Amino acid sequence: MKRLEGKSAIVTGGTRGIGEAIARAFALEGADVLICSRKQEGVDGAVAGLQGLPGRVAGLACHVGRESDCEKLRDTALREFGKIDILVNNAATNIAQGPCLGFDDGQFDKMVEVNLKSVFRLVRLVAPAMLERGSGAILNIASIAGLRPQFESLLYSMTKAALIMMTQSYAIEFGPRGVRVNAIAPGLIKTTLSEFFWKDPARAEKLMTLQPIKHLGQPEEIARIAVTLASDESSYLTGQTIIVDGGRLLGW
Ligand SMILES: NC(=O)c1ccc[n+]([C@@H]2O[C@H](COP(=O)([O-])OP(=O)(O)OC[C@H]3O[C@@H](n4cnc5c(N)ncnc54)[C@H](OP(=O)(O)O)[C@@H]3O)[C@@H](O)[C@H]2O)c1
Repeated sequence: MKRLEGKSAIVTGGTRGIGEAIARAFALEGADVLICSRKQEGVDGAVAGLQGLPGRVAGLACHVGRESDCEKLRDTALREFGKIDILVNNAATNIAQGPCLGFDDGQFDKMVEVNLKSVFRLVRLVAPAMLERGSGAILNIASIAGLRPQFESLLYSMTKAALIMMTQSYAIEFGPRGVRVNAIAPGLIKTTLSEFFWKDPARAEKLMTLQPIKHLGQPEEIARIAVTLASDESSYLTGQTIIVDGGRLLGW
């Protein structure tokens, strides 16, 4: 029996990078998966690339910062699969890097809307049925930037730190009713979002000197942990943030 057989999942931002790898890993383990991102063509391309796996993959254009889009996402998953066992809050943005005093209100609001309010709304939309059924797993993709401050990254780090606290807050309330809530804090992973850090080989090499595991993290290395956290193998694990960073935070 596959590890996620009989389960259905939503993976936000599942059209590329870490989200796409999680969607693929879930479907390989037998889960039906609904992915989303903002652009229909991105969704169509990703869904086409995720066919022929043991689980069924469907897609929807959805901006997670918009409440009505989040409602559509939940409704589509229910229509396609009948229930939602796993919610992966993966979609996020980083629109502004720079000195702390250089950010404006609009940038602050945008970062909160996409990286946090989306999670707040999706949990509110999806968790009640999980709680009623007495089972479910919610997984939030945070970042090591939410555990240690990073230069010129106030807004991104702030949202990821808050996401870790949201994870813990949901976990203590939902645990007694059978719903586990965990987070993953990736280090540097080779995706579009992080290309500033790895596209220049000299910069990437320098960053690798800061961590014991000497290769650049790959999305699949996050996806494998996501499968474990989403599956019943993790039945005694909630409220945790699993750091998957090649040892970077050890600070050796
Ligand atoms: N890569 C890293 O080094 C790293 C490290 C730590 C944490 N993370 C976290 O890992 C998660 C995935 O990041 P990634 O590196 O895989 O990024 P990515 O390659 O840029 O992928 C992001 C995905 O989210 C979608 N997305 C962005 N904004 C969205 C919105 N408003 N509504 C719906 N979908 C949206 C993107 O599609 P569209 O743009 O087409 O909408 C895309 O599918 C994020 O939470 C990120 O903060 C990444």
